[in-house]
Amino acid sequence: MHKKEKQIWLRPNLSAERIQIVEAPVPMPKGRRLGGVVQIWLRPNLSAKRIQIVERMFCGVKGFARRPAEHSRRGIASPRGQYEAPVPMPKGKGLGGVVQRCALLLLCGVMALLSLTACSKDFRSLDEIKKSGELIMLTNATFEPFEYVSGGEVVGADPDLAQMIAYELGVELRIVDMDFDLLVEALKSGKGDLIAAGMTANPERAEQVDFSSVYVKNGLLIIVPAGSDIQTGADLAGKRVSVQEATTSDDFATNEVEGAEVLRFKDAVAVGDAVQNGKADAAILDIKPAEGVVANSGGRLALLPDPVTQEDTSMAVAKGNAELLAVVNAVLEAAVADGTVDALIQKHMDATTLEE
Ligand code: ARG
Repeated sequence: MHKKEKQIWLRPNLSAERIQIVEAPVPMPKGRRLGGVVQIWLRPNLSAKRIQIVERMFCGVKGFARRPAEHSRRGIASPRGQYEAPVPMPKGKGLGGVVQRCALLLLCGVMALLSLTACSKDFRSLDEIKKSGELIMLTNATFEPFEYVSGGEVVGADPDLAQMIAYELGVELRIVDMDFDLLVEALKSGKGDLIAAGMTANPERAEQVDFSSVYVKNGLLIIVPAGSDIQTGADLAGKRVSVQEATTSDDFATNEVEGAEVLRFKDAVAVGDAVQNGKADAAILDIKPAEGVVANSGGRLALLPDPVTQEDTSMAVAKGNAELLAVVNAVLEAAVADGTVDALIQKHMDATTLEE
Protein backbone atom coordinates (compact mmCIF):
# COMPACT_ATOMS: atom_id res chain seq x y z
CA MET A 1 0.00 0.00 0.00
CA HIS A 2 1.36 3.35 -0.99
CA LYS A 3 1.91 5.53 2.04
CA LYS A 4 0.08 8.54 0.62
CA GLU A 5 -3.07 6.52 0.31
CA LYS A 6 -3.40 6.30 4.06
CA GLN A 7 -4.32 9.94 4.31
CA ILE A 8 -7.95 9.63 3.38
CA TRP A 9 -10.60 10.60 5.85
CA LEU A 10 -14.35 10.54 5.76
CA ARG A 11 -16.87 12.89 7.19
CA PRO A 12 -20.52 12.16 7.91
CA ASN A 13 -21.52 14.47 5.08
CA LEU A 14 -19.78 12.49 2.39
CA SER A 15 -20.49 13.48 -1.12
CA ALA A 16 -19.15 10.28 -2.59
CA GLU A 17 -21.05 8.86 -5.48
CA ARG A 18 -20.22 5.28 -4.71
CA ILE A 19 -17.97 4.07 -1.98
CA GLN A 20 -17.70 0.75 -0.32
CA ILE A 21 -16.67 0.22 3.26
CA VAL A 22 -14.99 -3.13 3.07
CA GLU A 23 -14.38 -3.46 6.75
CA ALA A 24 -15.56 -1.28 9.62
CA PRO A 25 -16.02 -1.91 13.31
CA VAL A 26 -19.77 -1.49 13.56
CA PRO A 27 -22.59 -0.76 11.16
CA MET A 28 -23.91 2.74 11.65
CA PRO A 29 -27.47 3.93 11.25
CA LYS A 30 -28.73 4.24 7.74
CA GLY A 31 -29.01 7.99 8.17
CA ARG A 32 -27.18 8.88 5.06
CA ARG A 33 -27.47 7.44 1.63
CA LEU A 34 -24.28 7.23 -0.28
CA GLY A 35 -25.73 5.93 -3.49
CA GLY A 36 -25.88 2.46 -4.91
CA VAL A 37 -23.20 0.61 -3.08
CA VAL A 38 -23.15 1.72 0.51
CA GLN A 39 -25.84 2.71 2.88
CA ILE A 40 -23.90 2.86 6.06
CA TRP A 41 -22.93 5.96 7.84
CA LEU A 42 -19.28 6.01 8.60
CA ARG A 43 -18.19 8.44 11.22
CA PRO A 44 -14.60 9.66 11.46
CA ASN A 45 -13.61 7.75 14.54
CA LEU A 46 -14.85 4.44 13.27
CA SER A 47 -11.47 4.08 11.62
CA ALA A 48 -12.54 1.73 8.88
CA LYS A 49 -9.61 -0.41 7.95
CA ARG A 50 -10.47 -0.84 4.30
CA ILE A 51 -12.37 1.51 2.10
CA GLN A 52 -13.09 0.78 -1.51
CA ILE A 53 -13.67 3.76 -3.71
CA VAL A 54 -15.77 2.52 -6.54
CA GLU A 55 -16.37 5.77 -8.35
CA ARG A 56 -14.67 9.09 -8.49
CA MET A 57 -15.83 11.62 -6.01
CA PHE A 58 -15.20 15.19 -5.19
CA CYS A 59 -13.62 16.95 -2.29
CA GLY A 60 -14.50 20.47 -1.37
CA VAL A 61 -17.86 21.99 -0.60
CA LYS A 62 -19.46 18.89 0.87
CA GLY A 63 -16.07 17.58 1.88
CA PHE A 64 -15.27 14.05 1.20
CA ALA A 65 -11.91 12.52 0.81
CA ARG A 66 -8.93 14.42 2.02
CA ARG A 67 -5.99 13.01 0.26
CA PRO A 68 -2.51 14.38 0.64
CA ALA A 69 -2.12 18.09 -0.07
CA GLU A 70 -2.51 18.00 -3.82
CA HIS A 71 -5.87 16.27 -3.57
CA SER A 72 -7.31 18.12 -0.65
CA ARG A 73 -8.27 21.26 -2.50
CA ARG A 74 -11.73 22.03 -3.69
CA GLY A 75 -13.08 20.13 -6.58
CA ILE A 76 -10.27 17.65 -7.04
CA ALA A 77 -11.47 14.15 -7.46
CA SER A 78 -10.00 11.34 -5.43
CA PRO A 79 -8.97 8.49 -7.63
CA ARG A 80 -10.62 5.13 -7.49
CA GLY A 81 -8.95 2.42 -5.56
CA GLN A 82 -8.67 0.72 -2.28
CA TYR A 83 -7.58 2.70 0.74
CA GLU A 84 -6.38 1.61 4.08
CA ALA A 85 -7.04 3.38 7.31
CA PRO A 86 -6.02 4.83 9.80
CA VAL A 87 -8.58 7.46 9.07
CA PRO A 88 -7.35 10.65 10.69
CA MET A 89 -9.84 13.10 12.11
CA PRO A 90 -10.08 16.72 11.11
CA LYS A 91 -7.79 18.95 13.11
CA GLY A 92 -9.01 20.44 16.38
CA LYS A 93 -11.46 17.68 17.19
CA GLY A 94 -10.46 16.67 20.67
CA LEU A 95 -8.86 13.26 20.92
CA GLY A 96 -9.62 12.29 17.36
CA GLY A 97 -7.58 10.48 14.78
CA VAL A 98 -3.88 11.12 14.65
CA VAL A 99 -3.83 13.08 17.88
CA GLN A 100 -5.73 10.28 19.54
CA ARG A 101 -3.34 7.69 18.21
CA CYS A 102 -0.24 9.59 19.34
CA ALA A 103 -1.69 10.27 22.77
CA LEU A 104 -2.65 6.63 22.98
CA LEU A 105 0.81 5.42 22.03
CA LEU A 106 2.41 7.73 24.55
CA LEU A 107 0.01 6.66 27.27
CA CYS A 108 0.45 3.01 26.47
CA GLY A 109 4.22 3.45 26.60
CA VAL A 110 4.06 5.06 30.01
CA MET A 111 1.65 2.39 31.21
CA ALA A 112 3.87 -0.38 29.90
CA LEU A 113 6.79 1.06 31.85
CA LEU A 114 4.69 1.37 34.96
CA SER A 115 3.39 -2.17 34.64
CA LEU A 116 6.95 -3.50 34.56
CA THR A 117 7.29 -2.37 38.14
CA ALA A 118 4.00 -3.89 39.27
CA CYS A 119 4.32 -7.40 40.64
CA SER A 120 0.85 -8.95 40.75
CA LYS A 121 -2.49 -8.27 39.08
CA ASP A 122 -5.91 -9.85 38.68
CA PHE A 123 -6.51 -8.75 35.12
CA ARG A 124 -5.15 -9.37 31.68
CA SER A 125 -2.66 -6.88 30.31
CA LEU A 126 -3.17 -5.41 26.85
CA ASP A 127 -0.52 -7.81 25.60
CA GLU A 128 -2.36 -10.79 27.05
CA ILE A 129 -5.62 -9.60 25.53
CA LYS A 130 -3.97 -9.19 22.15
CA LYS A 131 -2.29 -12.57 22.33
CA SER A 132 -5.57 -14.26 23.22
CA GLY A 133 -7.16 -12.57 20.19
CA GLU A 134 -10.28 -11.51 22.08
CA LEU A 135 -11.59 -8.80 24.33
CA ILE A 136 -14.16 -10.11 26.79
CA MET A 137 -17.06 -7.81 27.60
CA LEU A 138 -19.33 -8.57 30.55
CA THR A 139 -22.92 -7.40 30.42
CA ASN A 140 -26.55 -8.05 31.30
CA ALA A 141 -28.42 -8.08 28.01
CA THR A 142 -31.89 -7.10 29.22
CA PHE A 143 -31.47 -3.38 28.82
CA GLU A 144 -32.51 -1.90 25.47
CA PRO A 145 -31.03 0.09 23.77
CA PHE A 146 -27.75 -0.51 25.65
CA GLU A 147 -27.74 -4.31 25.38
CA TYR A 148 -30.35 -6.85 24.45
CA VAL A 149 -30.68 -10.15 22.67
CA SER A 150 -31.74 -10.17 19.05
CA GLY A 151 -31.62 -13.24 16.82
CA GLY A 152 -29.79 -15.11 19.58
CA GLU A 153 -27.03 -12.51 19.75
CA VAL A 154 -26.25 -9.80 22.26
CA VAL A 155 -26.46 -6.47 20.45
CA GLY A 156 -26.89 -2.81 21.40
CA ALA A 157 -24.98 0.44 21.79
CA ASP A 158 -22.59 -1.09 24.34
CA PRO A 159 -21.67 -4.08 22.15
CA ASP A 160 -21.11 -1.66 19.25
CA LEU A 161 -18.84 0.55 21.34
CA ALA A 162 -17.01 -2.46 22.75
CA GLN A 163 -16.62 -3.70 19.18
CA MET A 164 -14.91 -0.41 18.35
CA ILE A 165 -12.55 -0.92 21.29
CA ALA A 166 -11.81 -4.49 20.19
CA TYR A 167 -11.21 -3.23 16.67
CA GLU A 168 -8.77 -0.66 17.99
CA LEU A 169 -6.91 -3.49 19.75
CA GLY A 170 -7.06 -5.69 16.68
CA VAL A 171 -8.96 -8.48 18.46
CA GLU A 172 -12.40 -10.08 18.30
CA LEU A 173 -15.09 -9.13 20.80
CA ARG A 174 -16.56 -11.86 22.99
CA ILE A 175 -19.62 -11.00 25.07
CA VAL A 176 -20.51 -12.77 28.29
CA ASP A 177 -24.08 -12.23 29.46
CA MET A 178 -24.96 -12.61 33.14
CA ASP A 179 -27.15 -11.20 35.89
CA PHE A 180 -26.43 -7.55 36.56
CA ASP A 181 -25.66 -8.13 40.23
CA LEU A 182 -22.80 -10.48 39.30
CA LEU A 183 -20.94 -8.14 36.95
CA VAL A 184 -18.59 -6.41 39.38
CA GLU A 185 -17.48 -9.67 41.00
CA ALA A 186 -17.03 -11.26 37.58
CA LEU A 187 -14.75 -8.43 36.50
CA LYS A 188 -12.82 -8.57 39.77
CA SER A 189 -12.23 -12.29 39.42
CA GLY A 190 -10.99 -11.95 35.85
CA LYS A 191 -13.97 -13.47 34.02
CA GLY A 192 -13.79 -10.59 31.57
CA ASP A 193 -11.79 -7.50 30.69
CA LEU A 194 -14.50 -4.89 30.67
CA ILE A 195 -18.03 -4.22 31.91
CA ALA A 196 -20.22 -2.47 29.37
CA ALA A 197 -23.72 -2.59 30.76
CA GLY A 198 -25.20 0.89 30.84
CA MET A 199 -23.57 0.97 34.23
CA THR A 200 -23.70 4.03 36.43
CA ALA A 201 -20.35 5.13 37.79
CA ASN A 202 -21.06 5.56 41.48
CA PRO A 203 -18.68 5.84 44.44
CA GLU A 204 -19.50 2.40 45.89
CA ARG A 205 -18.64 0.64 42.66
CA ALA A 206 -15.63 2.87 42.11
CA GLU A 207 -14.07 1.27 45.18
CA GLN A 208 -14.07 -2.04 43.34
CA VAL A 209 -13.54 -1.21 39.67
CA ASP A 210 -12.03 1.60 37.61
CA PHE A 211 -14.57 3.55 35.58
CA SER A 212 -13.99 4.97 32.13
CA SER A 213 -14.88 8.44 30.95
CA VAL A 214 -18.59 9.09 30.99
CA TYR A 215 -20.19 8.25 27.66
CA VAL A 216 -23.86 8.87 28.47
CA LYS A 217 -25.45 11.42 30.77
CA ASN A 218 -28.19 9.41 32.36
CA GLY A 219 -30.78 9.39 35.11
CA LEU A 220 -33.73 7.41 36.42
CA LEU A 221 -37.31 7.80 35.25
CA ILE A 222 -40.50 6.58 36.87
CA ILE A 223 -42.87 4.47 34.80
CA VAL A 224 -46.52 4.32 35.83
CA PRO A 225 -49.73 2.91 34.35
CA ALA A 226 -51.40 5.49 32.07
CA GLY A 227 -53.74 7.61 34.18
CA SER A 228 -52.01 6.74 37.47
CA ASP A 229 -52.35 9.14 40.36
CA ILE A 230 -48.60 8.87 40.97
CA GLN A 231 -47.32 12.18 39.65
CA THR A 232 -44.01 12.77 41.39
CA GLY A 233 -41.27 10.74 43.03
CA ALA A 234 -42.80 11.62 46.42
CA ASP A 235 -46.05 9.88 45.43
CA LEU A 236 -44.16 6.56 45.37
CA ALA A 237 -44.22 6.46 49.18
CA GLY A 238 -45.83 3.25 50.35
CA LYS A 239 -46.29 1.93 46.80
CA ARG A 240 -45.17 -1.30 45.13
CA VAL A 241 -42.13 -0.30 43.06
CA SER A 242 -40.36 -2.62 40.63
CA VAL A 243 -36.62 -2.34 39.95
CA GLN A 244 -33.77 -4.39 38.60
CA GLU A 245 -31.82 -5.94 41.45
CA ALA A 246 -28.55 -4.28 42.50
CA THR A 247 -29.01 -1.31 40.17
CA THR A 248 -29.17 2.36 41.07
CA SER A 249 -32.98 2.03 40.72
CA ASP A 250 -32.84 -0.54 43.51
CA ASP A 251 -30.76 1.89 45.62
CA PHE A 252 -33.22 4.69 44.95
CA ALA A 253 -36.36 2.68 45.75
CA THR A 254 -34.75 1.13 48.82
CA ASN A 255 -33.16 4.25 50.29
CA GLU A 256 -35.07 7.25 48.99
CA VAL A 257 -38.70 6.16 48.88
CA GLU A 258 -40.56 6.05 52.16
CA GLY A 259 -42.15 2.71 52.93
CA ALA A 260 -42.03 1.38 49.39
CA GLU A 261 -42.50 -2.31 48.78
CA VAL A 262 -39.53 -2.92 46.49
CA LEU A 263 -40.00 -5.70 43.92
CA ARG A 264 -36.57 -6.77 42.66
CA PHE A 265 -36.11 -8.52 39.33
CA LYS A 266 -32.97 -10.06 37.83
CA ASP A 267 -34.08 -8.99 34.40
CA ALA A 268 -34.71 -5.35 33.48
CA VAL A 269 -37.44 -6.36 31.01
CA ALA A 270 -39.48 -7.81 33.89
CA VAL A 271 -39.35 -4.44 35.64
CA GLY A 272 -41.68 -2.81 33.11
CA ASP A 273 -43.78 -5.97 32.75
CA ALA A 274 -44.56 -5.86 36.48
CA VAL A 275 -46.32 -2.52 36.01
CA GLN A 276 -48.11 -3.71 32.87
CA ASN A 277 -49.54 -6.75 34.62
CA GLY A 278 -50.50 -4.89 37.76
CA LYS A 279 -47.95 -6.45 40.12
CA ALA A 280 -46.29 -3.07 40.69
CA ASP A 281 -47.68 0.46 40.93
CA ALA A 282 -44.57 1.96 39.34
CA ALA A 283 -41.18 1.02 37.97
CA ILE A 284 -37.88 2.85 38.12
CA LEU A 285 -35.57 2.53 35.16
CA ASP A 286 -32.80 4.42 33.35
CA ILE A 287 -33.96 7.09 30.88
CA LYS A 288 -33.52 5.38 27.49
CA PRO A 289 -34.65 1.90 28.60
CA ALA A 290 -37.67 3.53 30.30
CA GLU A 291 -38.56 5.47 27.15
CA GLY A 292 -38.39 2.24 25.18
CA VAL A 293 -40.60 0.32 27.60
CA VAL A 294 -43.25 3.04 27.47
CA ALA A 295 -43.05 3.38 23.68
CA ASN A 296 -43.71 -0.35 23.38
CA SER A 297 -46.58 -0.48 25.86
CA GLY A 298 -49.32 0.41 23.39
CA GLY A 299 -50.31 3.41 25.50
CA ARG A 300 -50.74 1.40 28.70
CA LEU A 301 -47.74 2.95 30.44
CA ALA A 302 -46.59 6.53 30.89
CA LEU A 303 -43.45 8.29 32.09
CA LEU A 304 -43.25 10.91 34.77
CA PRO A 305 -41.48 13.80 33.05
CA ASP A 306 -38.57 14.51 35.38
CA PRO A 307 -35.73 12.12 36.11
CA VAL A 308 -35.37 11.52 39.85
CA THR A 309 -31.57 11.22 39.68
CA GLN A 310 -28.72 12.33 37.48
CA GLU A 311 -26.20 9.61 36.70
CA ASP A 312 -23.10 9.05 34.63
CA THR A 313 -22.86 5.95 32.49
CA SER A 314 -19.37 4.49 32.13
CA MET A 315 -17.64 1.28 31.26
CA ALA A 316 -15.48 -0.39 33.88
CA VAL A 317 -12.18 -2.26 33.90
CA ALA A 318 -10.44 -4.08 36.72
CA LYS A 319 -8.82 -1.86 39.32
CA GLY A 320 -5.39 -0.83 38.10
CA ASN A 321 -5.85 -1.88 34.48
CA ALA A 322 -4.73 1.54 33.26
CA GLU A 323 -3.46 0.25 29.93
CA LEU A 324 -6.86 -1.01 28.87
CA LEU A 325 -8.61 1.98 30.42
CA ALA A 326 -6.54 4.35 28.26
CA VAL A 327 -7.74 2.62 25.10
CA VAL A 328 -11.34 2.46 26.31
CA ASN A 329 -11.28 6.15 27.16
CA ALA A 330 -9.76 7.20 23.86
CA VAL A 331 -12.41 5.31 21.89
CA LEU A 332 -15.30 6.49 24.09
CA GLU A 333 -14.21 10.11 24.18
CA ALA A 334 -13.89 10.28 20.41
CA ALA A 335 -17.25 8.51 20.01
CA VAL A 336 -18.95 10.99 22.33
CA ALA A 337 -17.31 14.00 20.70
CA ASP A 338 -18.35 13.18 17.14
CA GLY A 339 -21.88 12.01 17.92
CA THR A 340 -21.27 8.29 17.40
CA VAL A 341 -22.59 7.37 20.83
CA ASP A 342 -25.82 9.29 20.26
CA ALA A 343 -26.18 7.76 16.81
CA LEU A 344 -25.71 4.23 18.14
CA ILE A 345 -28.22 4.75 20.91
CA GLN A 346 -30.71 6.11 18.39
CA LYS A 347 -30.03 3.19 16.04
CA HIS A 348 -30.86 0.70 18.79
CA MET A 349 -33.86 2.72 20.02
CA ASP A 350 -35.22 2.58 16.46
CA ALA A 351 -34.51 -1.15 16.27
CA THR A 352 -36.31 -1.91 19.52
CA THR A 353 -39.29 0.42 19.63
CA LEU A 354 -42.47 -0.12 17.69
CA GLU A 355 -43.39 2.16 14.84
CA GLU A 356 -46.11 4.59 15.78
N1 ARG B 1 -27.62 2.35 35.34
C1 ARG B 1 -28.14 1.41 36.28
C2 ARG B 1 -27.03 0.94 37.20
O1 ARG B 1 -25.89 1.02 36.84
C3 ARG B 1 -28.79 0.22 35.63
C4 ARG B 1 -27.93 -0.53 34.68
C5 ARG B 1 -28.57 -1.82 34.24
N2 ARG B 1 -27.88 -2.39 33.17
C6 ARG B 1 -28.17 -3.58 32.56
N3 ARG B 1 -27.43 -3.95 31.57
N4 ARG B 1 -29.17 -4.28 33.00
O2 ARG B 1 -27.26 0.47 38.27
